[in-house]
Amino acid sequence: MGFVKYETKGQVGIITIDRPKALNALNSQVLDDLKEVLDGVDQQEIRCLIVTGSGDKSFVAGADIAAMSTMSQAEAEAFGKKGNDIFRALEVFPIPSIAAVNGFALGGGCELSMSCDFRICSENAVFGQPEVGLGITPGFGGTQRLARLVGPGMAKQLIYTAKNIKADEALRIGLVNAVFPQEQLMEEAEKLAAKIAKNAPIAVRASKKAINDGLQVEMDKAIEIEEKLFGSCFESYDQKEGMGAFLEKRKVEKFLNR
Ligand code: CAA
Repeated sequence: MGFVKYETKGQVGIITIDRPKALNALNSQVLDDLKEVLDGVDQQEIRCLIVTGSGDKSFVAGADIAAMSTMSQAEAEAFGKKGNDIFRALEVFPIPSIAAVNGFALGGGCELSMSCDFRICSENAVFGQPEVGLGITPGFGGTQRLARLVGPGMAKQLIYTAKNIKADEALRIGLVNAVFPQEQLMEEAEKLAAKIAKNAPIAVRASKKAINDGLQVEMDKAIEIEEKLFGSCFESYDQKEGMGAFLEKRKVEKFLNR
């Protein structure tokens, strides 16, 4: 695949944005390639995705500024929709995703990382929404996801000032869950993914859906969403195996995703 690589390690799928000459900046082709990779993920077998960037300098340095520089209003809106559609597809993808942020995560890069379920990063990671310094707003969901993740006050400060922040500050404000030396980042991401992959996939996916869908509605409705998803697990083989193993004081043999 052109600008996006995909490999599997056991039941973990690793998606790598691979356009190192432009610090993995997102042009239309990169977005198309990302969509194609996501569409091709084996949803029965794969239990967790890791999203990262190639090289040791940049996760994704944003949407492609050269490509955007000559866009008309209509073209920019369409480009924003394209990015939003694919990032939203990743956000609601049944399989959980971890962003392993290995350097610059600016503009569309920060937005890509926020479309994953959670983020870990390397010590050299830099996050930011520099768009207003370029005369535009964030365009791939940054105004919405950053505000939901770190609160509207902090999101507004970061977006209005266009100030980039380092890994330790990203950790402090809750944008990332953990920071690792660069050379350990992928190993740690794979360890986390393997822990997720060990658990019952139907239950993990239902938990993701409960959290995502529940956050969109008021609490009474949110709790109902959880009730339905909780109930749905009881139709699964994996629930019988998980609870059976506990009661029989043995280890789970294997969750089968059914
Ligand atoms: N778009 C296009 N090309 C980019 C790019 C981007 N977002 N970021 C980096 N590049 C290219 C550079 O133009 C350069 O290419 P050439 O070698 O052909 O000149 C190459 O990548 C290496 O970059 P630098 O020489 O600039 O590397 P550096 O180490 O000096 O600086 C950097 C690194 C601080 C990340 C700097 O490249 C930079 O500021 N990039 C732009 C970051 C940015 O503003 N991102 C937001 C884009 S807007 C957006 O994303 C909108 C949205 O929400 C959808």
